[in-house]
Amino acid sequence: MANEQITENAPRATWTSKWTFVIAAAASAVGLGNFWRFPYLAAKFGGGTFLIMYAIFVFTVGISLLLLETSLGRNTGLSVVGAFARINKKSKWLGYLAAAVPFVIGPYYFVVGGWVCKYVAAYISTSPEILANGSNYFNAFQHSELSSYVWLGVFMGLTFLVVAFGVNGGIERGNMIMMPTLIVVAIAIAIYISVQPGSSEGIKYYFVPDWSVMSPELIINALSQTFYTLSLAMGIMVTYGSYLKRREPLTKSVCQIGGFSFGVSLIAGAIIVPAAFMAFGTAPTSAGPSLMFITLPQVFLSMGPVATSMGILFFVLVLFAALTSSISVVETCVSIFVDNFHMRRSKSIIILLIYMVLFAAFVNSGYNFLSTGRIFGMEFLDFFDFVTNSIMMPIVALATCIVVGWVVKPNLLIVEIELSGYFRFKTIWTIMIKYVCPILITLILISNVATALGD
Ligand code: PHE
Repeated sequence: MANEQITENAPRATWTSKWTFVIAAAASAVGLGNFWRFPYLAAKFGGGTFLIMYAIFVFTVGISLLLLETSLGRNTGLSVVGAFARINKKSKWLGYLAAAVPFVIGPYYFVVGGWVCKYVAAYISTSPEILANGSNYFNAFQHSELSSYVWLGVFMGLTFLVVAFGVNGGIERGNMIMMPTLIVVAIAIAIYISVQPGSSEGIKYYFVPDWSVMSPELIINALSQTFYTLSLAMGIMVTYGSYLKRREPLTKSVCQIGGFSFGVSLIAGAIIVPAAFMAFGTAPTSAGPSLMFITLPQVFLSMGPVATSMGILFFVLVLFAALTSSISVVETCVSIFVDNFHMRRSKSIIILLIYMVLFAAFVNSGYNFLSTGRIFGMEFLDFFDFVTNSIMMPIVALATCIVVGWVVKPNLLIVEIELSGYFRFKTIWTIMIKYVCPILITLILISNVATALGD
């Protein structure tokens, strides 16, 4: 029965073509991780050195796990809880653990998405000097009570609106508008920056490897970045794989998805690193919110007359990246409800909306009326980011490799992959899933726990 595309639930939606799948998966993969973490890491770890390591990991470990998750989805025709239960009854717990990740990531990702929406609007209506006034503007907005909740609501509203229109009518159509726009705008900004006087030093810094910085820390960071920017270990790729028709070739698709995410990271770095050099004479020294909402407005201001247009374009770009990722999170949660509780899609969306509104409002209150609140000494948003990225996702990824590599055996998925053509790299893939990936993921997990305990 595992080869049936129709499960005991209603007939499953399917992507209209191979390309809509590749673009949807790439749209999920390309997100805030590519824009606010990658350029900083590349700048910190010797530019080209980090780029090369990240490329190696994306096209080995990354696409191997991507192939595992998407073929698991396609094989079972189910979202992550059902998928793991279907391949082995005893691994149902792993399905639940993986399913929990998008339920925790979603709420805090919405909060950040709200900030990005606000900055698009702010660049349209406010002068770039005000936005570049140190951390004042950002802090005031983040703690602004009503306004921060309104923008959170705007971002959530956009996400749910797209999901409400369904896999074909909403997600495919939304991605078809947002992804090409994102790529064109990103390339245009990168070209603009590269022809500005003074950018060559930053470009050199970004592209030329400095091997003296090679370290275990660099390797761990390049690996974690690979997981995050390919949306692995969150149940997302299993769900997106479950909407695939049997004849679509998987191996080529996962290479293309990896290529997209790598390419966007590369361009994001080629924008941010040289731009920071032009403004400050050094590489960016911050990541996350402070890079995006404090440092970059200063960089844009230094560009003089183009500051406003640069700000609008850049934040629209980031908004599209964030939106297409948050859409994939919500879709994953919806499909978990539909598959496991046999709920109608519309009902699942409403229940999920209530859950996400409450949880996201709680996370946002960490900057407002609960601003003194801490969980294990961390601000709410940082805590949920830490628990998912540093703990839950590595555990899910490790357990997935063990269950597929050692318990059910990779052959189950090799047969699935070969339904759409001969799989030339099956031996290498098996070695990756059984040995290489679990060892590397264990290293990430140990390092994350050690860092957390050391803080
Ligand atoms: N790849 C996404 C990113 O870089 C990770 C992610 C996906 C996060 C979906 C949240 C939701 O932002």
